[in-house]
Amino acid sequence: MNGKQQLRIGIVGAAGRPRAFKQAIADHPRATVAALCDVTEERLRQASAHFGAYPAYLSYETMLEEAELDAVIVGTPMQVHVEQTLLALKRGLHVISEVPAGVSVEECRRLVRAASRSKGQYVMAENCNYMKPHMTIANMVRDGLFGELYYAEGEYLHEVKALNESTPWRRVWQTGVNGITYGTHSLGPILDWMDGDRIAKVSCVGSGRHYADSAGRPYAIEDSCVMTAKTEAGRLIQIRLDMLSERPGALNYELQGTRGCYESVRYELLGSGKVYVKRDGEPKREWADLAEVGEAYVPDIWRGLPEAVVGESGHGGSDYVMVTDFLNALTEHKPSPIPIHRALDMTLPGLISQRSIERGGEWLDVPDSRTWE
Ligand SMILES: NC(=O)c1ccc[n+]([C@@H]2O[C@H](COP(=O)([O-])OP(=O)(O)OC[C@H]3O[C@@H](n4cnc5c(N)ncnc54)[C@H](O)[C@@H]3O)[C@@H](O)[C@H]2O)c1
Repeated sequence: MNGKQQLRIGIVGAAGRPRAFKQAIADHPRATVAALCDVTEERLRQASAHFGAYPAYLSYETMLEEAELDAVIVGTPMQVHVEQTLLALKRGLHVISEVPAGVSVEECRRLVRAASRSKGQYVMAENCNYMKPHMTIANMVRDGLFGELYYAEGEYLHEVKALNESTPWRRVWQTGVNGITYGTHSLGPILDWMDGDRIAKVSCVGSGRHYADSAGRPYAIEDSCVMTAKTEAGRLIQIRLDMLSERPGALNYELQGTRGCYESVRYELLGSGKVYVKRDGEPKREWADLAEVGEAYVPDIWRGLPEAVVGESGHGGSDYVMVTDFLNALTEHKPSPIPIHRALDMTLPGLISQRSIERGGEWLDVPDSRTWE
């Protein structure tokens, strides 16, 4: 960081996903955008129009060389994350990478090596961990309200056939590989609730193939893929990914413990949900609204946010809360909120599920990246 102790951030893929991070960076007292990078003049113009007139680069390497950065936000398509993260970590820069961490197990190994050698911190930008209901549930779990946790479900249902046309990388990496290609949004909050646990084994099967793209080419992936997972502590988790089926989008979660359970609002992308908590002496089991019973468990970082931030900033305000937390950690020299091994706990099960589905749902071990160092 420079003399004024401002964290200087370079943003790559700046005309895409990182646009949602603008307000949180602007509001942070000790961080500033220092440079923008994208691959075409047109995209760079769009990025500059959004973020402001910062030095703008068509070459990522040149940005790293010239812009005197402390940190990089890697907001490029998923197949580019690792190569760009490695270049920044090698220079000792902090990296905030979009999800997933990487697209192959070999890439993930390279990430671990680079992260362990760098003086920069690695942070994975899993915004679902920061959604208000998910952080509230995490606090309720820690307070023991649900008892011992043993089961969870997550579903990411987001039809992207049209989006595949405007962002063709999705056609290759998200809907061109069978299995769980985009599982961190589902696994992130669940593993957070199951504090410290990780997935040890997965089996993945699919629902068959029912769709074609606009050119009439059938999708080679199965529409709905379901990964069943056992954690190291013996818990059961089920993840469904579907990016093709004709239906409105939904981000669903379910959690079960020995004293209670949580169900997110199905059919609503960012709804709150309902909980049941067992009360001794009360035989009747009734749902309660999370927004009411969870009020005392809402984390401080969510309190007092301006309405405009919650309403306008990405994903119901979770992008704002996440970026604020990351910038606080980096500027206060605290540990990464989502460090490399937690990022890989969310990423590796999906990569192994892609092998499992090829083998008819065979149960396969998920490597523990902590053993790679
Ligand atoms: N966390 C979330 O809620 C969320 C939402 C959307 C996307 N994502 C993730 O964010 C990433 C980007 O997704 P998107 O929707 O913004 O995609 P996009 O295609 O809309 O935007 C990507 C941007 O990166 C640029 N780009 C591509 N290759 C580049 C390179 N080599 N160097 C520099 N710039 C490059 C493109 O020109 C484009 O401006 C993906 O990994 C995706 O998985 C996360």
